Amino acid sequence: MARILAEISRTFGEYLLLPNLTDERCTPGNIDLSAPLVRHRVGELAPIRVATPLVSAIMGAVSSVELAIALAQAGGISFIHQNQPISEQAGMVAAVKRHKAGFRHNDVNIKPSATLDEADTLFKRTGSDVIVVTDDGNPSGTFLGLITTQDFNFIRHRRDEVVDSRMRTARELVTGAEGMSLAEANSLLWDSRQDVLPVVSADGRVTALVHRRDEALHHKFSNETVDAAKRFRVGAGVNTHDYLERIPALVEAGADVLCLDSSDGYSVWQQNVLAFVRKEYGDAVRIGAGNVVDGRGFRFLADAGADFVKVGIGGGSICITRDQKGIGRGQASALAEVVAERDAYAEETGMYVPLCSDGGIIHDSHMAIALAFGADFLMLGRYFARFDESPTNKVKLAGQVVKEYWGEGSSRARNVARYGQGKDLAFEEGVDGYVPYAGSLYDNVTVTLAKLRSTMISCGAISLRQFHDTARLVQVSQQTFVQNSEEVQRNERPTVA
Ligand code: IMP
Repeated sequence: MARILAEISRTFGEYLLLPNLTDERCTPGNIDLSAPLVRHRVGELAPIRVATPLVSAIMGAVSSVELAIALAQAGGISFIHQNQPISEQAGMVAAVKRHKAGFRHNDVNIKPSATLDEADTLFKRTGSDVIVVTDDGNPSGTFLGLITTQDFNFIRHRRDEVVDSRMRTARELVTGAEGMSLAEANSLLWDSRQDVLPVVSADGRVTALVHRRDEALHHKFSNETVDAAKRFRVGAGVNTHDYLERIPALVEAGADVLCLDSSDGYSVWQQNVLAFVRKEYGDAVRIGAGNVVDGRGFRFLADAGADFVKVGIGGGSICITRDQKGIGRGQASALAEVVAERDAYAEETGMYVPLCSDGGIIHDSHMAIALAFGADFLMLGRYFARFDESPTNKVKLAGQVVKEYWGEGSSRARNVARYGQGKDLAFEEGVDGYVPYAGSLYDNVTVTLAKLRSTMISCGAISLRQFHDTARLVQVSQQTFVQNSEEVQRNERPTVA
């Protein structure tokens, strides 16, 4: 006979935190949001950590190269999606790794004879605001100048004018020499008052670009997620079907951490992949697994060698798994059980296997609740899909600026690997829709982290570990919500132009 558990499945919105004593240590500057990303011995530091406990979802509508760079700058890490040919995914990973922190790879180029219209298209397609002009339009061509979004405007300039007429020429620009240090490059940027410094080789090619903005970001987020060579760290999704080819290609491309991407990770297929990784690479390749919603699932994957375990089925904003398959669990209930199992596992084995709470974060306050419940870091789709750096189109819908966002199980994504239904998707597990456009990742993450720090200060915790140990949560009644929202009619939010 089927067993019916006594619990009611609960989600984040059903809880509030109670304040603890705020003492002198509790200042925003003292709050440490860093978190372990991969398994490690209890009491030791994880070999890969993040300064910001936010990672972007393994989704085509979320984790672009641009987003991965912006998020690594902000101290988190992205997971490039695996619903694409292996070479394309590996290419995206390699593109992130090419952006050595501070020195950006020169990969947006144009010929001087191209039109401003073509330059405009390139700006839009790449999201870059500067293009390097070379004699043949390739990165390996001779450096002739720079053209930026500030250099022309179609009210003043014709679309068929050539780039040559508006670019700043190499002669007018201050340039750096190959081999210079980042500190020297930043000084040159200040001396020259340029926003971008092209670093040029002895034979006249641009080998890197240094942006003024990156220095400001570096100071703001002093803990970028970088590897030993100061390249941004990046993760990548893998599946249980083509892993024998995909994993070596991603490792070769430089992926720092992999993650099995499945709505249900409690399977021998995931165990097989984890065994393959351990056999082939030992601990040199790090791989997370999931998703699970209970202690059994966690223990199975932890025993199989997972470096972290992802928690959550059916909680994602674009997810209809619960409707379609009747499988899932409220994210708060799932986390509570898995956190208890993680801690028991650490006690028994001396091995700490971090938990990632995946999906279902609707308000910033839910991040604090998820972390208070004991999640080590959070995976977010909808949150990041709203930003400039996500790869999807920005469109105007009923007077509001929105960005496209679709689930990996929607027919749009046709994620055969993740949902394993063969070529013709028999049913969908995800929605294809829009989310309100919210601006840059940097601006939004700054505000989100300020809120998180503020919550932790009220709860008297200066590190996430302390927050896990000391947070006190209460369940709220429906009437508490009504009291919160009924009295005042809110002002309409101004829409972004
Ligand atoms: P969000 O942050 O609430 O938007 O949730 C993002 C998470 O939803 C992802 O990290 C996935 O675990 C999950 N997800 C992505 N696509 C689908 C889908 O099509 N159906 C169900 N879940 C999905």
